[in-house]
Amino acid sequence: MKIIETKRLYLKELVLEDAEELSKVLSDPESMQYYPEPFSKDKVKKWIKWNIENYKRYNHGLWAVILKDGDKFIGDCGITMQIIENETVPEIGFHIIKNYWNKGYATEAAIACKDYAFRVLKYPKIFSYTTVKNIPSQKVAEKMGMQEYKIFEKNGEKQIAQVVFNTGFNKS
Ligand SMILES: CC(C)(COP(=O)(O)OP(=O)(O)OC[C@H]1O[C@@H](n2cnc3c(N)ncnc32)[C@H](O)[C@@H]1OP(=O)(O)O)[C@@H](O)C(=O)NCCC(=O)NCCS
Repeated sequence: MKIIETKRLYLKELVLEDAEELSKVLSDPESMQYYPEPFSKDKVKKWIKWNIENYKRYNHGLWAVILKDGDKFIGDCGITMQIIENETVPEIGFHIIKNYWNKGYATEAAIACKDYAFRVLKYPKIFSYTTVKNIPSQKVAEKMGMQEYKIFEKNGEKQIAQVVFNTGFNKS
């Protein structure tokens, strides 16, 4: 079932059968350079199971990102609950297979997720966070209209949280 559709993409719920395609990003050392380590096969499956739980619990999670042209699985993007210092907040995350980087796909998916968070889920604000070293991720957040919220430490690494507020323009 399509959850969100954009010009070039659609987002749908992840299923366990996506593990092999998703591992092309989550188990790739270059893509995961800002994480403690690339995910094992088992961790990719656990990631999908965590998102299936998220769909039930929150009505959202990270979804599969599918390129309409060729119906290709290119990564994940969506909304999960994350802890930013002492606050639990909705956060937009994204992981795109590197053959598809720098074509605006993460931005296109993330903007659609932001609109969904405001219009459908009625969140008043939404966040993104990443290590300060992850410039592409911060660029995507900026292109969603996010501004710096705070710099904080997690697992001994400096992180940047960015935020955008629902100004009402997105309400339908
Ligand atoms: C972050 C990520 C999802 C971006 O996906 P994408 O589809 O390439 O994103 P977009 O094409 O929409 O935008 C990427 C932006 O980063 C910029 N960028 C890419 N590499 C860069 C670099 N080394 N230095 C500076 N900017 C860079 C691009 O120029 C573009 O910005 P612009 O449109 O202002 O020029 C992708 O790099 C990825 O999957 N990384 C690994 C997983 C990850 O770190 N996810 C974030 C976890 S918090």
